[in-house]
Amino acid sequence: MTKPASAVAAPATPCPSLFSDSGNLAQDLVEAYLAVRNETERRAAPLTPEDQLIQSMPDASPAKWHRAHTTWFFEQFLLGEHCEGYKVFHPDYAYLFNSYYVSAGPRHARHQRGHLTRPGADEITAYRRHVDAAVVKFFRDAGEDTLKTIAPLVEVGLNHEQQHQELMLTDILHAFAQNPIPPAYDASWKFPASTRGSEEWVTLNEGIHTVGHTDDSFHFDNEKPAHRALVGPVKLARNLVTNAEWLAFMKDGGYSTPTLWLMDGFAVVGNEGWQAPGHWREIDGEWQVMTLAGLKPVDPSAPVCHVSYYEADAFARWQAKHLPTEMEWEVAARAGQLNDAFGIVWQWTRSAYAPYPGYRAIEGALGEYNGKFMVNQLVLRGSSLATPGGHSRISYRNFFYPHHRWQFTGLRLADYAT
Ligand SMILES: [Fe+2]
Repeated sequence: MTKPASAVAAPATPCPSLFSDSGNLAQDLVEAYLAVRNETERRAAPLTPEDQLIQSMPDASPAKWHRAHTTWFFEQFLLGEHCEGYKVFHPDYAYLFNSYYVSAGPRHARHQRGHLTRPGADEITAYRRHVDAAVVKFFRDAGEDTLKTIAPLVEVGLNHEQQHQELMLTDILHAFAQNPIPPAYDASWKFPASTRGSEEWVTLNEGIHTVGHTDDSFHFDNEKPAHRALVGPVKLARNLVTNAEWLAFMKDGGYSTPTLWLMDGFAVVGNEGWQAPGHWREIDGEWQVMTLAGLKPVDPSAPVCHVSYYEADAFARWQAKHLPTEMEWEVAARAGQLNDAFGIVWQWTRSAYAPYPGYRAIEGALGEYNGKFMVNQLVLRGSSLATPGGHSRISYRNFFYPHHRWQFTGLRLADYAT
């Protein structure tokens, strides 16, 4: 499920392309499509039908829903709009499995996705097979001009499905973490090895840098346009914050010291009763953490995971530091100066998720993909242990609300360099 340590220690510029370039576009599309679709099913394979139904909180979705929604995406936007004569698998599925695309029609309430015992997991498997067969036939039958036209849409659909592959794991882990008898998603799973080094800080002198996605390879619209930004002077931690450092923060009363917290954050701490990162349990005086391999002792040397923006911000203040901006993160990452930038935990930044200068959402229903979420959320950079191979990008902008912590989220620190 996870990438091996060698893949986790990603190069400074991970390659995002899903398509090979064999000169046969139909074949390239078929191979890329089936590879991503099969990865979803591989991730779902350890889950029972009961596992696939659960929605343990409104922000999470059932695995069955992820499998169906990603299928609906291809049915709605690819087959429905470009494949003449395509017959939908079931007339009600568009209502059930549309997520938030208002322009694609009405949809089932998000917080009630776990109420649907029917269609069952087997019916969703049949739905996936129906759509997969139609898509592959479409790729094989369509002419070169049509394929060139729809290839960018296919790439969006595949990257969309990869995003849901990650969510499928974070969501089932949250569900399993609620279980007093903690199940293992994969008993042989291991937390990825960290590549931290002894050199602590990288200094970025004041300078103007280009940030954002710079070429025509695949990217989401929120990564463009590339633009120039003034960065520094600042110091960034080369290493991620560890569980040992987090335990010291807890021992020092971090969660109960109001001066360390943003007001909204301290309210959440009180309301939720937070005393430790998400999925942690104190058993006989020892801290354990729920992982994809089940409940495990907290490893002091591993990067801390499942912390919210509020917690990351409070920890930084406790250290008399702060969180980097997304621009600082990107400049340091492009220079290859950040250890574990990819493949372990998404890293909170203190940048608001806002449009880049010159940003325009793409036209049509897919314009709802990113742009309408550009308020009240914070940007995370890098990628996590659950991010599928080939999905990471140095300009990638993930985003969540500041109280969210069920994703694989951690942090690195920044300090002023004046
Ligand atoms: Fe989606």
